[in-house]
Amino acid sequence: MLARVRDFLPAKHGKLFVVTTEDLWRLHGDKLTGQFPFDVLFFPGGESRKRLSEVEALAEQMLAKGADRSSVVIAFGGGIVGDLGGFLAASFMRGIPVIQVPTTLLAQVDASIGGKTGANLVGGKNLFGAFHQPAAVLADPDVLRTLPVREYRAGLFEVVKTGIIRSPELFELLTKHRDKVLAQEPQAVEQMISESVRIKCEVVTADEKEGDLRRILNFGHTIGHALEAETQYSRFLHGEAVSFGMTAATHLAQSTGFLDGATAERVHGAIDMYGPIPSTAGIEPTNLLGRLAKDKKTIQGSVHFVLPTAIGRVKITSGLSEDKVLEAIKAALA
Ligand SMILES: NC(=O)c1ccc[n+]([C@@H]2O[C@H](COP(=O)([O-])OP(=O)(O)OC[C@H]3O[C@@H](n4cnc5c(N)ncnc54)[C@H](O)[C@@H]3O)[C@@H](O)[C@H]2O)c1
Ligand SMILES: [Zn+2]
Repeated sequence: MLARVRDFLPAKHGKLFVVTTEDLWRLHGDKLTGQFPFDVLFFPGGESRKRLSEVEALAEQMLAKGADRSSVVIAFGGGIVGDLGGFLAASFMRGIPVIQVPTTLLAQVDASIGGKTGANLVGGKNLFGAFHQPAAVLADPDVLRTLPVREYRAGLFEVVKTGIIRSPELFELLTKHRDKVLAQEPQAVEQMISESVRIKCEVVTADEKEGDLRRILNFGHTIGHALEAETQYSRFLHGEAVSFGMTAATHLAQSTGFLDGATAERVHGAIDMYGPIPSTAGIEPTNLLGRLAKDKKTIQGSVHFVLPTAIGRVKITSGLSEDKVLEAIKAALA
């Protein structure tokens, strides 16, 4: 697949800039080398470096190397490189094309699709950025073989999420073929990635900006974000926090009568199948509750929850009582 990046370049283009990290380049740089001439721009990697200052530094390097309006950015890495490289392309000379070449499962099934790009502010993650749709996204499942197992599993939770919100087929694949999925059996991985991508595309095409439909993608993210923030983004990988958030939201769906007990059990089963996540010991449920109100996705002061109503179906609701939410958080922490 990566041997075909060349086929997806815009018809007329100037200089090509591959934005990546040194680690990834050492592992997979050979897959691009020799296909076409390009300059490599290294980004240090890591959430703490996903900052506007890094975008500026990359833009200065591009300019020094002769970039102009016809240049193209190829973002080659995980979601951090994708978000930063996409933002670089969105803002360099007010916008040049970006080709996303995601190399983590999370980036392949989620971050590279939908056109959200950006950087973190001191006050919060992803608070500074732009929508910039990629000219192409090329996801090669082969590169996932070098991904640390924990990163792969964390990405799987976004796939589990997609199954729960919109795809009984994906849910079935994940629950019936866990061993194949975990062993990265090629057919299972391909099916899983293509179905996740299809659904994310369908949702963001219907609703490119953050409207009602797109919000279904936030299943597990409201309480998940609270958990990530409460633990200073250091104890849980994003997907692991989403796993926790999905568990809490499923408890909430059941206690509010949106979801029947038997289906709730199946949803919990699918989430638990790809765990365990790191321990939640010592986390105060009321602290998580308090953080919900500060979430960026809070709409006019009210916290919205995406709750499953069946396998493959969710409902967005707000105005739930704090007691019920707290109860669901406690059940997920138990
Ligand atoms: N734009 C969006 O819609 C969107 C959606 C979800 C997440 N995100 C963002 O994505 C970021 C997280 O992305 P991530 O989970 O991919 O993390 P990441 O980019 O930090 O990658 C995880 C780790 O894996 C390494 N790595 C990447 N590919 C590898 C490979 N093939 N083999 C070995 N190691 C490899 C990376 O160097 C890094 O150390 C967050 O910043 C999040 O905000 C964006
Ligand atoms: Zn996510």
